[in-house]
Amino acid sequence: MVKNLNRAFKPKRVAIIGASPDPAKIGHQVIKNIIEGGYKGEIIPINPKADNILGVKVHKSLNDVPEGVDLAVIAIPAPLVQAAMEECARRKVGAVAIITSGFAEVGKAAEELKLKKIADENGIALLGPNIFGLAYSPERLNASFGPKDIYPGKIAFITQSGALGIGLMGWTAMKKIGLSALVSIGNKADIDETDLIEYFNKDNNVNVQLLYMEGIKNGTKFMQTRIEKPTVVLKVGRSTRGAQAAASHTGSLSGSDKIYDGAFKQIGMLRASTFIEAFSWARALSQPLPKGEDTVIITNGGGIGVATTDECEVQGIKILDDPQWLEAKFRPTMPDFGSTKNPIDVTGGAGVDGYRRALKIAFAEERIKSVIVLYCETAVTDPMDIAAAVNAAFQEAGRNKPVVVAMVGGERTRDALVYLNEKFIPASSLVDVSISALKIIYTWAEIKNRPQTKPVLEQAPAEVHKIIAAVKGQGREILMEHEARQVMELCGVPTPQWGFAQSSAEAIKIADYKNMYPLAMKIASPDIVHKSDVGGVVLNIRDGKELKDRYEAMMTRLQKECPKAKLLGVNLIQMVNGIECIVGITTDAQFGSAVMFGLGGVFVEALKDVTFRVVPFDEAEAGRMIGEIKAKKILDGFRGMKADKASIIKTLTAVQKLAPLVKEIDINPLLTNENGSYAVDARIVLK
Ligand code: COA
Repeated sequence: MVKNLNRAFKPKRVAIIGASPDPAKIGHQVIKNIIEGGYKGEIIPINPKADNILGVKVHKSLNDVPEGVDLAVIAIPAPLVQAAMEECARRKVGAVAIITSGFAEVGKAAEELKLKKIADENGIALLGPNIFGLAYSPERLNASFGPKDIYPGKIAFITQSGALGIGLMGWTAMKKIGLSALVSIGNKADIDETDLIEYFNKDNNVNVQLLYMEGIKNGTKFMQTRIEKPTVVLKVGRSTRGAQAAASHTGSLSGSDKIYDGAFKQIGMLRASTFIEAFSWARALSQPLPKGEDTVIITNGGGIGVATTDECEVQGIKILDDPQWLEAKFRPTMPDFGSTKNPIDVTGGAGVDGYRRALKIAFAEERIKSVIVLYCETAVTDPMDIAAAVNAAFQEAGRNKPVVVAMVGGERTRDALVYLNEKFIPASSLVDVSISALKIIYTWAEIKNRPQTKPVLEQAPAEVHKIIAAVKGQGREILMEHEARQVMELCGVPTPQWGFAQSSAEAIKIADYKNMYPLAMKIASPDIVHKSDVGGVVLNIRDGKELKDRYEAMMTRLQKECPKAKLLGVNLIQMVNGIECIVGITTDAQFGSAVMFGLGGVFVEALKDVTFRVVPFDEAEAGRMIGEIKAKKILDGFRGMKADKASIIKTLTAVQKLAPLVKEIDINPLLTNENGSYAVDARIVLK
């Protein structure tokens, strides 16, 4: 049955099951908040004993009121909740918010499932259990046991943590961070973050969403979330405990948090690292989006201008750099000793008029795509006047481009910052906070402008399935080197020239035919894992004669040293040079298969310079993975080394075909040079 979250957020009638006259009880606080919050709909307290709570007539049960209550908030002990839920179903309640704790979070998953079943069978949107309630400021609905007041605004805050959510409810009000909705999702028996984001996508009262999460239950569903509005996520629990058991590089480097990180990027969520950052971004994202890169910095101080310029460089914000043009436009706004070089320094004595003139030009000029305003408090200006001038210029220009402000000073400055934030202009006393806010606006603009695609997972060719079936038939779960190479080649992963030979004559024939010199020769044996340790690897073989000698020497030696090993032949691989990268697949408990890319070779463990994406993803996403690693500069071209990005992208997309069949893959190294990329070695572990 279809669930309708309007019944939860825009209810006409709200029942509180467990409303109590006792102020010490949660059921009392909920009804008190609903009344004092100014909710205009019908309030229906349910309690078998009380007659009147806070002046509202109490009903003994839902049976005593006309059916079709929109929202019922349940705050009675856990053993009584199922019966209350059944009553809600009989009385056609649309949405239920279960505050009560004592379900899956304490191991009582079966009891929770029963609630979910009732909700599903009756089309009830179920929030919780184990939540502090919900609030929706456009309806003046505060059905929570948090603080009474919410500062109204356009941010929807969805929180998995209860106590923290309650705390932040008060904090946002104090900081004048405007919320339209505040939802506690607790155990997420039914409604989860994806459902709420989908709902708020269509809600004009919401501009920005902020999600606090500890983990998700269903990665596949989460990856389907459509992010239509800027969505900031604060995910805690960055530990890599889960990865310790994994044997491969890819597994040990993943730690599910890195996969979360990739997943957020993939669906277009903006991951913040701290609460301050999350709320500062959420507030900033109400700003208009920039229509290009170039920014100008308007300041009354040189030092703060330099600090901001540095920060822009760190964050990758492009400062408009055209001295002549800037001189022509901004010189008339300032005294002779001012600087037009960007930062536009209107000087310490400029006063509010200097700011006004510079701001007018900054907002009017098409070439300028965003504006950073800096101010150090001086005796000649009132910070509030500067703040008012920024707001006026922004409004008069029709809010046509983003603006952020950083102001340093005393109490008057603090008031000016509050004023600006109330006007939805991101303003802070810290330059890095303001610049990070501008950066997130740019990031969101880039995400928003991406073409919307729905990646599809391509099947591996039938031949691959055959090889894998044969390996499994032999009771193995790890592919031998030549099998791994074959499988990759069939899927379209670029590999160096290679061949498999069972005699020296055959080896020479293959090497000549494929023009493979110089080449590496490696023993093929299911019984020898560490090939180099037993002399099973020879590098840089230059011609047929050397190949013959080395082949025979290797076989004689290994027959003697590893008498029990089955020697099947040798793998011949063309030697290639290039930057060492790593590509892998790992299987994550939440998200399923994820592909990893990063810098490989000896640095892989130490630097952990890798990034992940959840399968499936397309070429554009693969390109973004390459742009994300710290070693990006080396890939772009460094001291004669350069990556062939197109073939890395091809590798990252092609390897996904194997995802449904494997538990892990490590392609290490994937060598890349200007001419292409080559999967030199691969370890494939089957499901
Ligand atoms: N229908 C309506 N009211 C009922 C009822 C029913 N079927 N059964 C009991 N009540 C009434 C009780 O009589 C009581 O009212 P009273 O004060 O007039 O006697 C009221 O509901 C509450 O029941 P009570 O037994 O007093 O429970 P409580 O208030 O001590 O605890 C919870 C109830 C839900 C608060 C508690 O079980 C709980 O889960 N606490 C944790 C909540 C939490 O932290 N959630 C997560 C936050 S993030």
